[in-house]
Amino acid sequence: MLQDQHGRGVTDLRISLTDRCNLRCTYCMPKEVFGPDYVFLRKDQWLHFHELDRVVEAFVELGVRKIRLTGGEPLLRPGLVKYIEGMRRFRQIEDIALTTNGLRLAEKVGDLRDAGLKRVTVSLDALDADLCGRMNGRGIGPNVVLAGIEAARAAGFGVKVNMVVERGANDSQILPMARYFKERGVTLRFIEFMDAGNYNHWSLERVVSGREILDRLAEELEFEPVDVSSAREVAKRYAYKDGSAEFGLITSVTQPFCGGCTRARISADGRLFTCLFASEGVDLKPWLRGDALPQDELLGRLAAIWRGRSDRYSEVRSAATPRLGKVEMSYIGG
Ligand code: GTP
Ligand code: 5AD
Ligand code: SF4
Ligand code: SF4
Repeated sequence: MLQDQHGRGVTDLRISLTDRCNLRCTYCMPKEVFGPDYVFLRKDQWLHFHELDRVVEAFVELGVRKIRLTGGEPLLRPGLVKYIEGMRRFRQIEDIALTTNGLRLAEKVGDLRDAGLKRVTVSLDALDADLCGRMNGRGIGPNVVLAGIEAARAAGFGVKVNMVVERGANDSQILPMARYFKERGVTLRFIEFMDAGNYNHWSLERVVSGREILDRLAEELEFEPVDVSSAREVAKRYAYKDGSAEFGLITSVTQPFCGGCTRARISADGRLFTCLFASEGVDLKPWLRGDALPQDELLGRLAAIWRGRSDRYSEVRSAATPRLGKVEMSYIGG
């Protein structure tokens, strides 16, 4: 089986379909940086869907069974629904999920379901309208996102909600968010604020650790860990004792999970990244465009990249880690 330098296979492929987004979350695309003058990828720089198909096909042969479509905001990519429909032909893929900010979810949910999508993960950081608007940089309150979540649930989707927790910004929302989604039986995942990208003014003091989140929840709610044998899972799972819902902690800062990291990432313009915190990816476009490589050679090169992989950024993160030059999360996908 294909393994990297630390014995990790490749099972998950995360595909960013555009670097654009209709929000400007402070921790991801702060509006001071991603303003009107910011230069996003041009559409002709995007990897075409038929090129992407070749990459997916190769990765499936190398072990990938799970695909996550992300962005920026993937619902902004024209042709998304048809692309998802076409993915059905990869029979070995067991799970396709979409990460979205939910703004356009309600209007797209029917088409997405008909295309065969079964799971969405929606980002939402606060229920308080002011805080929510501040976090997303656009002054947009939570209602449109909550409506998107409801529409997805009504259409039969598995729905998870991701909340990035930042001290002094939205940590007051931990309990309100927990209560709200518990009542509705929706899995909420609390994510430690990460030092992704170069512009979000990250500091360790702003991280609310998973431990602290648990302590705050325990003031009011009763829960217990869910025993999961799969070390590959990013989130630590907990279930409320009354059986109403589960929640999760994604502790990439205080308890990193690089040891089980089997994720490869493709940016919207077709670069392959073997870590969320890499500064450079391998440009696959020349292998797919013009004098394109035959499929077996493409596969061989991807395998060679994976074999040479030694990333474990979150485990070796330190003050000495260079603070600049990392790839932006909106570009590579959360
Ligand atoms: P499920 O398939 O629903 O279990 O998704 P998941 O657990 O992979 O979570 P999701 O894709 O929603 O990712 C949630 C968040 O976890 C991301 O937005 C990132 O903030 C963080 N995350 C996911 N994968 C990685 C990773 O490989 N490294 C680090 N450091 N953080 C990650
Ligand atoms: N820290 C943690 N998660 C982040 N995301 C983006 N930026 C960050 C960050 N700095 C993730 C969140 C969000 C998804 C789209 O990307 O999970 O929900
Ligand atoms: Fe857009 Fe998601 Fe980044 Fe927010 S976190 S700016 S919704 S890509
Ligand atoms: Fe994987 Fe890099 Fe995240 Fe570690 S920091 S879990 S190697 S993506």
